[in-house]
Amino acid sequence: MPRELEAAVREIAEEMRARDDRGAVATYIPELADTDPGQFGIAVALRDGGVIASGDCDKPFSIQSISKVFTLTLALGKLGDRLWARVGREPSGSPFNSIVQLEAERGIPRNPFINAGALAVTDAILSGHQPKEALGAIVRFMQVVADDETVFIDQAVAASEERTGHRNAALAHYMKAFGVLENPVELVLGVYFHHCAIAMSCRQLAAAGRFLAHNGADPATGLSIVSTERARRINAVMLTCGHYDGSGEFAFRVGLPGKSGVGGGILAIVPGIASIAVWSPGLDAAGNSHLGRIALERLTTRMGWSVFSPTGAHSAGGAG
Ligand code: DON
Repeated sequence: MPRELEAAVREIAEEMRARDDRGAVATYIPELADTDPGQFGIAVALRDGGVIASGDCDKPFSIQSISKVFTLTLALGKLGDRLWARVGREPSGSPFNSIVQLEAERGIPRNPFINAGALAVTDAILSGHQPKEALGAIVRFMQVVADDETVFIDQAVAASEERTGHRNAALAHYMKAFGVLENPVELVLGVYFHHCAIAMSCRQLAAAGRFLAHNGADPATGLSIVSTERARRINAVMLTCGHYDGSGEFAFRVGLPGKSGVGGGILAIVPGIASIAVWSPGLDAAGNSHLGRIALERLTTRMGWSVFSPTGAHSAGGAG
C-alpha cells in the first residue's frame, strides 16, 4: 500500500494546490482572516508509525474545533459516562455556533462538537483546577498523542477570539443560567479559546489521531490512551456530529469519522489503518474546509477506505 498511497497523496496535493475554488477563509476570528488561502497540506499516519505527507504538511495552523475531539477524550477520562448528563450525542443539524436548541433543551447542548457542547466539555475539564492547570493538561495531552513537544498555543489567535467571541460568551452565559456550567463563564471561555488556538501541522495532527484509528492505543508504542470501546464511541460522535450540519454530506462523500475546524483543518480516521490530517484554510458554507473535504473524498475513493464497506473493497487499497 505505501507506494500506491504515496502516489495518491502526492497527486492529490498537486491537484489541490492548482485548484482555484478554495472557499473563504474564516474572518470572524480577526487573527485568522489574513491566512493565505493558497496553502494545502496532507499527512497520513500509518499503523507502523510511518507518515506519508505532502504540500504544507509541516506548517502549523490553528486547529480550532479539532481540539474538541481531544477535550472530549480528556473529559470522558475524567468523568466517564457521567459526562453525557451534561452534553448529548445527537447531531444538531444546525451551524456550529447556533444557540436555537439550547432554550428548548434547557441548556444541555446536543453534542460535544458544536460550540455549546465543547464549552460544557471544557467546563468539565476545568472543575477542580485553575485555568492554567486545565490548559496545561490539554496541551500536554496533545504533545503526548502527537509525540511532539513543540505543539503550542498561538496566543495571538486566542487573544483575538477572546476580544471578539461574543457568540460563545452568549452560549456560555445561557448554559450558566440553566446551571449546566459549574465554573465562572469567563474562565470557561478563556480555557476554550486557548485550546481552540492550539497550532499544529498536518503531520502532528495525523499522529495525534492514531489512537482513534487503533482501538485506543498508539500502535507504534503500544501506549493505551483510551479503551477500545471509548475510541469507537468517539469515532461514532465524529462521524455523526464532526462536521455540524455538513456531517451527512461528509459521511456521504468521505465515509469516515472526521472533525473539522475553522482554521481549515480536518482530522479523519480510517479504523485499523490510518489517521489523516488535511489542511486548506478556505471554508465551505458550513464552516468546513472546502478543499480539505474534496481531498479526503479523492483519497478515500482511490484507496477504497470507508467505514461503510470492507477495507479496500475496491482498488488495491488494502490494509497493507
Ligand atoms: O468557537 C469558535 O467559533 C472557534 N474557536 C471554533 C469553531 C470551529 O472551529 C468550527 N469548525 N469548523
